[in-house]
Amino acid sequence: MGGRCFAVLCVVLASLGGVAADAAAVAVQELRRGFSAAHDGSNSQFEPVLSDPAGVFALGFLRVNATMLDLAVLHLPSSFPLWRAIPDRPAQWFARASLSFDGDLVLTDRAANKVLWSAGAAGDRVVLLSTSNLQIQSGSSPGVVWQSFDRPSETIVQGQNLTSAAALYTSDRRFAMRLGTNYFGLYIEPPPSSSGGVAVAMYWKHTALEAKAQIVAGGGPTYVRVEPDGYLAMYQKEGPPADVLPFDTFNHGVKAIRRMTLEADGNLRAYYWDRNGSRWVLDYTAITDPCDLPSTCGAYAVCVPPSGRCACLANATDGSGCAAVSGGGEGGGGGGLCGRTGGEVGGLYWEVRRQRVEPANKELLPFEHSPSAADCEARCARNCSCWGSVYNNGTGYCYFMDYPAQMMVAADERKVGYFKVRSLEEAGSGGGGGGRVAGVKVALLAVGVTVLAAAAAFGAYRVWKKRCRAAADASRQVGADDDGLSPGPYKNLGSFSSVELSSSFRG
Ligand SMILES: *[C@@H]1O[C@H](CO)[C@@H](O)[C@H](O)[C@H]1NC(C)=O
Ligand SMILES: *[C@@H]1O[C@H](CO)[C@@H](O)[C@H](O)[C@H]1NC(C)=O
Ligand SMILES: *[C@@H]1O[C@H](CO)[C@@H](O)[C@H](O)[C@H]1NC(C)=O
Ligand SMILES: *[C@@H]1O[C@H](CO)[C@@H](O)[C@H](O)[C@H]1NC(C)=O
Repeated sequence: MGGRCFAVLCVVLASLGGVAADAAAVAVQELRRGFSAAHDGSNSQFEPVLSDPAGVFALGFLRVNATMLDLAVLHLPSSFPLWRAIPDRPAQWFARASLSFDGDLVLTDRAANKVLWSAGAAGDRVVLLSTSNLQIQSGSSPGVVWQSFDRPSETIVQGQNLTSAAALYTSDRRFAMRLGTNYFGLYIEPPPSSSGGVAVAMYWKHTALEAKAQIVAGGGPTYVRVEPDGYLAMYQKEGPPADVLPFDTFNHGVKAIRRMTLEADGNLRAYYWDRNGSRWVLDYTAITDPCDLPSTCGAYAVCVPPSGRCACLANATDGSGCAAVSGGGEGGGGGGLCGRTGGEVGGLYWEVRRQRVEPANKELLPFEHSPSAADCEARCARNCSCWGSVYNNGTGYCYFMDYPAQMMVAADERKVGYFKVRSLEEAGSGGGGGGRVAGVKVALLAVGVTVLAAAAAFGAYRVWKKRCRAAADASRQVGADDDGLSPGPYKNLGSFSSVELSSSFRG
């Protein structure tokens, strides 16, 4: 946001004091029934309407992506939107919009006489609390009819409960964070244009340790909350948390505004506001390995650790990312998801086989034992909802994906992948959104070349990654032991051991 318009905003708020101003552009501290504020479409980035008592947060018209209009609660010193309404069909910034309150809070496009967004509530007044929580209240003893804390967009702030009734979404809705019974996870969302049959893909999971409190079946939904002492706590009821996910400043006595945001790259990060430095200081990052982030390479790609370089699973690209072979590629036959073979007319999927690849999120995938790569492949080929399988010839595990190939990472030669790949046409029409962003930034290399290079780096990488994982997340519950070793106490060692070394050089 430009410093100039921001300065103007500060002046406006500074001049507010406790005085109830009636000029349209000046923020007040309470909206009563009958309130209406017109968006003036001026050249600013933000037009405040309602302010919290301290003037740190404001609700107002926010300009997003240079041209679009949204309603947002901003942290004013940083201009960071902590909450956004995100209308289904947003209006242009220069639209004649207005925000009105007549029991319900409504954003209207006056020219088109169309409701862009509404809270769907019936209350008496709207206030913005000093926590940044926007509330619609009713009655004399404030009953909360609606609050923005229950409808987060991509961020939760300190003190805000995130329950399984809500989720965090990146603003393009490609990624989501959701709670399960005793865990929370990060997910790749199916593209809205996908022609069905694409499941969400979990790419990161944190399971509650339940050291201080148990999560009991039927004991109500769990929720997470960023706490002032610098951690994300999971609860089923108030009291000792069932899980504590510490940030860097955990118990360091840092008193500041904290937030946790699911960022556009699909990573989950926490920050605190450093008032003196006037910046958000990074305090926690969920995913530190680029190959564990779905945005690094996108769909139909292979990520090469540790650099996070990307190669296409099939050789073709559509110019901005990895797409499918356009026909007659490796594997030859066109086929549907149910294994129809033989170049069927209009077949939307092609089969691609790749050695030396495995899913970075394999611990989160369903798997079965299988006697051979061919058997593993056949189980996926005939399953209408299977998009790919990877066989580990070392352990005999066969992993299944019910979404188009994502999160594939270079591996040793024992891993054999089989993928159903969308034809170029469909991948180009939005389904391959995953590849799009990454493809622009990342040089795409031929798989053959990169996999050779990867093999050299691979041994070292595995040791490094294991050390990171062990240190970072001792509480993680490993779903499938895939090292070709029996599960043993060495897994819990914080530093690398000779066992890990020999195992990584074996393959
Ligand atoms: C968070 O949840 C707890 C337990 O249900 C509740 O007491 C508290 O008021 C909630 N906080 C907010 C800000 O909604
Ligand atoms: C991909 O391209 C490389 C280099 O051009 C080639 O060696 C390889 O055979 C191709 N693979 C497929 C599946 O077409
Ligand atoms: C087909 O694959 C889906 C998703 O991987 C799985 O849930 C289902 O059990 C499979 N069906 C059969 C018959 O194997
Ligand atoms: C799997 O391992 C067996 C025995 O080690 C070997 O004979 C076979 O060729 C391997 N298959 C693949 C696909 O690597």
